Amino acid sequence: MSAHAKLPAASFPVRRMDFNFADSPKYWFANDPFLSHYMNNLSSLFPYGEKFFVDSVRAVRDHITDPQLKKDISAFIGQEAMHSKEHAAYNEYAAKHNIDLHRLELRIKVLLEWVTRFSTVKQRLAITCALEHFTATMAEQMLQREDLSCQMNDPRLYQLWLWHAIEENEHKAVAYDTYQAVGGGYFTRVSMMLLSTLLFFGVIGWFQVHLLRKDGQLFNWRSWGKGLKTLLSPRNGFLTQLLRPYLSYYRPGFHPNDYVTKPLEQRWRERLGFNN
Ligand SMILES: [Fe+2]
Ligand SMILES: [Fe+2]
Repeated sequence: MSAHAKLPAASFPVRRMDFNFADSPKYWFANDPFLSHYMNNLSSLFPYGEKFFVDSVRAVRDHITDPQLKKDISAFIGQEAMHSKEHAAYNEYAAKHNIDLHRLELRIKVLLEWVTRFSTVKQRLAITCALEHFTATMAEQMLQREDLSCQMNDPRLYQLWLWHAIEENEHKAVAYDTYQAVGGGYFTRVSMMLLSTLLFFGVIGWFQVHLLRKDGQLFNWRSWGKGLKTLLSPRNGFLTQLLRPYLSYYRPGFHPNDYVTKPLEQRWRERLGFNN
């Protein structure tokens, strides 16, 4: 490439956000403890989880030669760093309502330090691919399921989650393409998906019970019923709907862009007033 050749732009932008959740209510999702805590639960995973994704991709960035992928890696790091920052702000807001997400964040930090100690660079990248598939498919569903997003009864938290959901789809192939570019193979990819699945559901189950117990809502059966129906209903449960895309990850020829989400992302960028 000549010195004057134009370097490609990243395929997606890094948006600077600065949310203020000072006036957000405690039960901001459907006015419901279980579902609000389910989202809190996910939020507690992000500050250190997304740092782990960034570190995993950054560790191999110098081995990438494709100029487009190099640009996209930089934008991926920018987006995930911004998500970590804004979810840390969210977790601060929760603390004002006596919801201690900081403690849960630190448990994730310890868990990921342990994972880092006993894994290779390539295995960590495969774990990142697996968890990015989780976040991308959850995010896609959040963008599709207006019956759920319309239950978010706080405009700032609505913006936070839908902004994050758009960006998870914009950058969903970056870790995967990086993994393939450094010669990552099928066996490591799917074995790390199995491990990630166990860790992910083990952690969110543990944290969900913890959050409900600390909030004095552990025996709120009505809220459990509503929450479990929303997540696990055979017809349209939020988690049930993830089963098919989850299983597709085990296909040898899988690629995150098999799930075409560009029109959905565009629709939501317009709705949230992003000009790119
Ligand atoms: Fe993210
Ligand atoms: Fe991501």
